[in-house]
Amino acid sequence: MPRKTAIILSAGLGTRMKSTLPKVLHRVAGETMISLVATQLEQAGVDEVRVVVGFGADLVKEELKGFSKVKFYVQKNQWGTADAVKSADIDSLQGLVMICNGDHPLIKSQDYAQAFEQGAKADLMVTSCKVKYPKEFGRVVRSADGKFKKIIEAKEASASEIKISEVNTGLYVVKAEVLKKYLPLIKNNNAKKEFYLTDLVGLAQADGCDVVAMPSKFKRVIFGVNNQLELAQAGLALFKRKIKELLEQGVRVVDPANTYVESECQVGQGTLIEPGVMIKGNTTIGKNCVIEAHCQIVDAQIADGVHIKWGTLIDKSQVGAESIVGPYARLRPESVVGEQVHLGNFVELKKTRIGNRSKANHLTYLGDAEIGEDTNIGCGTITCNYAADRKKYKTIIGNNVFVGSDTQFVAPLTVGDGAVIGSGSTITKDVPARALAVTRAKQFIKEDYNKG
Ligand code: UD1
Ligand code: MG
Repeated sequence: MPRKTAIILSAGLGTRMKSTLPKVLHRVAGETMISLVATQLEQAGVDEVRVVVGFGADLVKEELKGFSKVKFYVQKNQWGTADAVKSADIDSLQGLVMICNGDHPLIKSQDYAQAFEQGAKADLMVTSCKVKYPKEFGRVVRSADGKFKKIIEAKEASASEIKISEVNTGLYVVKAEVLKKYLPLIKNNNAKKEFYLTDLVGLAQADGCDVVAMPSKFKRVIFGVNNQLELAQAGLALFKRKIKELLEQGVRVVDPANTYVESECQVGQGTLIEPGVMIKGNTTIGKNCVIEAHCQIVDAQIADGVHIKWGTLIDKSQVGAESIVGPYARLRPESVVGEQVHLGNFVELKKTRIGNRSKANHLTYLGDAEIGEDTNIGCGTITCNYAADRKKYKTIIGNNVFVGSDTQFVAPLTVGDGAVIGSGSTITKDVPARALAVTRAKQFIKEDYNKG
């Protein structure tokens, strides 16, 4: 197999995005366009990826630093697509060269792999697509016998050429020698005064090269992002793809069009996901869970049989098997919830561990806390973890503890196993195991006080 190099064109300004960010760094379903393209190319088995950068070059380099096969080439002036390819040190190329766009985030690795296969059989292969509205795409011009002759840009097309519905997707595979021979011959005598890569076709064809245009039946190949609307459409397309994959694996999704799961997330068989749920980042959800409507789960590990109720937010935390969380609970980073734990409405956790079968069912803040097993945290409990010295302190509560409602724990402190805290207490000192602690003003009664 000849060496396979891909050149990603991504030096364009992306003016229509109306954004300060380089176009290819915009995120589609959680991932930047450039990393999606680079990932699919690597999966398609390329030996090397050359990224042509311009505007925001340093940011693009930073984004792709984890990709071992990627090298960067700077295009100084945006003089057109042929000039962009020229920037990628073409003299050093060998074998097959793929040229593709950094702003086509929907292309799958199999599309790239297929293009390489088709390209290997010709001198130059252009992936085309038949579309209803050819808009600004370059037109694929064929002779009467169907032979591919050239690509004409929409701006330069004649009245008959502009009607052609087969267009250039911007995905090419060319033999390195062919590219080296004809690229330097491209001129910029056209409407945009740019060096058009598409002129390579006419030049190579006229010189007797085997030039082919292979139509792809997949619209994802031609779909490029030029503005915020197309970015949103690309995101929805990727979410739809992921939901389809999950449905095929036996995940239950009530409303696929209103469920958003990023591509790296895993969801186990039999889990039910209700509308408006967002599952993001590096999240794993087990089997037979229920994720009720409008929950957001980010970088979290949720074990089997967990029930997450309405409007719950979980961020960088773990939830053990068969626990119930929410509605309206908030698990902030580094929280670790055991098995069969119940966390109810308006319960907030931050950097807190809760042991198996413990409960905090209502209106509670537990921050920098460690809570044992089978402990009950009453309604309205607060760990006062942030002190006047602006430092955080820990609250440690043992197993089988009963915390009455409306309790404050002024950290640092430790409550021993089996202790009981009376309702309405402000606990400032350690509580020994099995002790009762109450800090409560005595009730005062004055009979017949209200004379009204
Ligand atoms: C190009 C093709 C057109 C095709 C369309 C498919 C040319 C002349 N035309 O048109 O036939 O139908 O793509 O999407 O190639 N870029 C650079 N440096 C430059 C100019 C562009 O890196 O100086 C990059 C852009 O960032 C982009 C890609 O090249 O990723 C394509 O450029 P763009 O300006 O979008 O070309 P189109 O006019 O869309
Ligand atoms: Mg374009």
